Amino acid sequence: MRLVSGQVVCVTGAGGFVASWLVKLLLERGYTVRGTVRNPDDPKNDHLKELEGAMERLILCKADLLDFKSLCDAINGCDGVFHTASPVTDDPEQMIEPAIVGTKNVIVAAAEANVRRVIFTSSIGAVYMDPNRSPDELIDETYWSDLDFCKNTKNWYCYGKVLAERTAWEESKQRGVDMVVINPVLVVGPLLQPTTYANSVQAYVHVRDVAAAHIMIFESPSAEGRYLCSESSLHRGEVVEILAKYFPEYPIPTKCSDEVNPRTKPFKFSNQKLKDLGLDFIPVKQCLYETVKSLQEKRHLPVTNDQQ
Ligand SMILES: NC(=O)c1ccc[n+]([C@@H]2O[C@H](COP(=O)([O-])OP(=O)(O)OC[C@H]3O[C@@H](n4cnc5c(N)ncnc54)[C@H](OP(=O)(O)O)[C@@H]3O)[C@@H](O)[C@H]2O)c1
Repeated sequence: MRLVSGQVVCVTGAGGFVASWLVKLLLERGYTVRGTVRNPDDPKNDHLKELEGAMERLILCKADLLDFKSLCDAINGCDGVFHTASPVTDDPEQMIEPAIVGTKNVIVAAAEANVRRVIFTSSIGAVYMDPNRSPDELIDETYWSDLDFCKNTKNWYCYGKVLAERTAWEESKQRGVDMVVINPVLVVGPLLQPTTYANSVQAYVHVRDVAAAHIMIFESPSAEGRYLCSESSLHRGEVVEILAKYFPEYPIPTKCSDEVNPRTKPFKFSNQKLKDLGLDFIPVKQCLYETVKSLQEKRHLPVTNDQQ
C-alpha cells in the first residue's frame, strides 16, 4: 500500500458508523486526521482513540454542523474534507436544518480554507425515490429522488439528503470547491463503535468498501460527479436465506409476511463508476456474515455457548 504522509484531512462526524471506518483507513494510509465530534469526552467516541496511529495522528475537534466557527477551526489547514456527518432520522425537525445548513457551513468553511477536495457523503436516498420509475430501469448517477414524493410519503431522511446534496453542489460550484459525492446504499459490516444503527433498505454495501471508496475518489484526480456505492440489491427472502445458512442457531423466519403479491423486484443500481476506479466490492454474503459476527462480538446478539 502506498502511504501518504504529511496530508491533513478533516472527517466530520468522526464517531459515526461509516466515519469510524473512514478514520481507521485514513490513519492506516498515513493521513493526519482531524475528526469532528460533538463531544470529544463522550465515551461513545473512545474507540477512535484506540485506532492504530490515533495517538500520533488523530485530533478530535469539538464541532457542530450548525456552528460555522467550530467547523472553520477544524477544517482550516486541511488538504481535504470528508463530510459524512448528518442526522440519520425521519424526524423532520432534527433532519432538515442540520443536513442543509450544516452542509452549506462545511462547504463554505472548506472554500475559505482552500482545501484541495471535499468528499460529500450523500445517500442512495437522494437517488432512487421516484414512484414513476420502472423497477427494471438501471439506476445510475444521473437519477435524483423526487422531492415531492419524499415529502408526501414523509420520508424526511431522503428529503433531507436530497436537499443537502443539492446544497452541496450549488455551494461548491458557486465557491469553486472541487467536490465529489458518494451515494451509498444501506451500509452493513462490523461496527467499530459501540452503538448500533437502523436496518431497512434492499441494496447493501460493506462499510469497508464505502470508506475505501471515499479515499479512492479523494485521491483520484479524474474523479468527478457522483458515485453510486452499492454491491448488490437483495430481496429480504434472499437475505434471510443467507443468514439461515451461516447462522442456523438463530430462529430466522422462513416465510414472507406477504405471500399474496409477487416478490418485489430489487433495484438495479449501477456501481460501474467505482469499479472503473478499481474498487473490488466485498460480496454481499460476506457483508451480511461479518455484520452478524460483529453484532455477536458487541453482544447485540445472543451467542450460544459453543460460539463463545
Ligand atoms: N449507514 C447507512 O446505511 C448509510 C447509507 C447511505 C448514506 N449514509 C450516510 O453516511 C453518513 C454517515 O452515516 P452513518 O450510518 O455512519 O450514521 P451515524 O453512525 O448516525 O453517524 C452520523 C454522524 O453524524 C453526526 N452528526 C449528526 N448531527 C450532527 C450535527 N448537528 N453536528 C455534528 N455532527 C452531527 C453524529 O454525531 P454524534 O455522534 O455527535 O451524534 C454521528 O457521528 C451520513 O451522511 C448518512 O446519511 C449512511
